[in-house]
Amino acid sequence: MENFNYTDFTLQWHITHRCNLRCKHCYQDDYSAFEDFEDAKNVLDQYCTLLKTYNCKGRLNITGGEPLTHPHLFNILRLARSRGIRTGVLTNGTLIGDWDARKLKACNVDYVQISLDGMEKVHDSIRGKGSFKKAVSGIYALKSHGIFTSISFTAQNNNLFELKKLARFCKLLGADKLWFDRVIIPADEDKDDLTLSAESFQKLCRTAARLNRKGRVFCGRSLQFIPCKNKVIYHCAAGENLLIVLANGDVMPCRRLPFIIGNVKQSSLLSLHQSSPIMNELRNTGIPDGCKECTYSALCRGGSKCVSYAKKHRFDIPDPDCKLINN
Ligand SMILES: C[S@@+](CC[C@H](N)C(=O)[O-])C[C@H]1O[C@@H](n2cnc3c(N)ncnc32)[C@H](O)[C@@H]1O
Ligand code: SF4
Ligand code: SF4
Repeated sequence: MENFNYTDFTLQWHITHRCNLRCKHCYQDDYSAFEDFEDAKNVLDQYCTLLKTYNCKGRLNITGGEPLTHPHLFNILRLARSRGIRTGVLTNGTLIGDWDARKLKACNVDYVQISLDGMEKVHDSIRGKGSFKKAVSGIYALKSHGIFTSISFTAQNNNLFELKKLARFCKLLGADKLWFDRVIIPADEDKDDLTLSAESFQKLCRTAARLNRKGRVFCGRSLQFIPCKNKVIYHCAAGENLLIVLANGDVMPCRRLPFIIGNVKQSSLLSLHQSSPIMNELRNTGIPDGCKECTYSALCRGGSKCVSYAKKHRFDIPDPDCKLINN
C-alpha cells in the first residue's frame, strides 16, 4: 500500500450539469444531469471518510454546470460547513442577486469564483449576450455582503488581448483576485481553434507577470511561475490530492482529463483514489524525460498533464507550452 501523505485534499463537485449559458469553450456535452439531495449526502459522507483516513483538511469546490440552478445548493454548502470543510462556489455569476449573496454569506462560504472571459463585447461573444452585465451585477452583490470574490479568466485565442483591460476593471470592481488558465480542448475537437499556441501562452504569461508586479493578476497556475519568478511552484494535482465528482456520480482525476475512474454509487471515493489504475499511473508517472535538466523539475514535474494530453494525447510528456523544455 502506498503512503498517502497530504495536508489537504480538494474535491471539485459538479452538483449539476444544468446551465443557463452555452459558452463556446465549455467542456460539457451534457446539460441535464443533476444530483439529488440523498445522493449528495452520500458524496459528502465519502469525502469525510477520505479526509479522516488521510488526516488532512478538506477543500470543497462546488460547481456545475451552473451551481446556482441547483435547488439544494445552500443545503449542501451548510452540510459541508457543519462538517468543518472549507467551501467555495465556482459560478458564472449571472444568477446571483442580493438574496443569493445573503444566503451564500449565511452558509459561510470561504470564496466565490466568477468567470469573466474579457470585457463586455468579448465576454458576451463567448458566453452569450447580456451575460457580462449579469455577472458584474453578481460580483457587486457578493462584494456588498463581504464575500471573497475571485475572477477566473479562461484564456483562449479569442480573448487573449483582454487580460490587461480586465485586470484594470477587476480592480475598479473591488474583486479580491483575478487569475487565469488555459482553455483545454482535445486537439481533434477544437473546431473553433480556441486552443492557445505555446507562443501565445508564453506571451500571455509575460503580460500577466507585468500585471502581477502591480498586484493585479495572480500567477499561481501551471508554468506561470516562470516569467513571474515565483518562489512557490505549481504542480499538477491529477492522481494526487484532487478528485472530481460529476452530477451523475462519475469520478474523474481532473475535469480536464477525459478519464472516468468509477462512480460513487458503486465504489467509495477512497477506494477509487487508492486503487484506480489510472490514478496510480498518473501519480507514478515521474518527471518526463524532456524536463530532467530543468532546475524546476522536482517541483513542477512536467507542467499540466491535461495540456499534454489534449495536445499530444499523452500525459507522461512535458507540457508542450513550456519554453524551458529540452527536446
Ligand atoms: C465548467 S465552469 C462551471 C462554473 C460556471 N458555470 C462557470 O462558467 O464559471 C468552471 C470553469 O471551467 C471553465 N471551463 C469550461 N470549459 C473549459 C475548457 N474547455 N477548458 C478550460 N476551462 C474550461 C469555465 O470557463 C469556468 O471558469
Ligand atoms: S456557464 Fe460554465 S457550465 Fe455553463 S456553459 Fe459556460 S462554462 Fe459551461
Ligand atoms: S521544463 Fe518541465 S519541469 Fe521545467 S518548467 Fe517546463 S514543464 Fe516544468
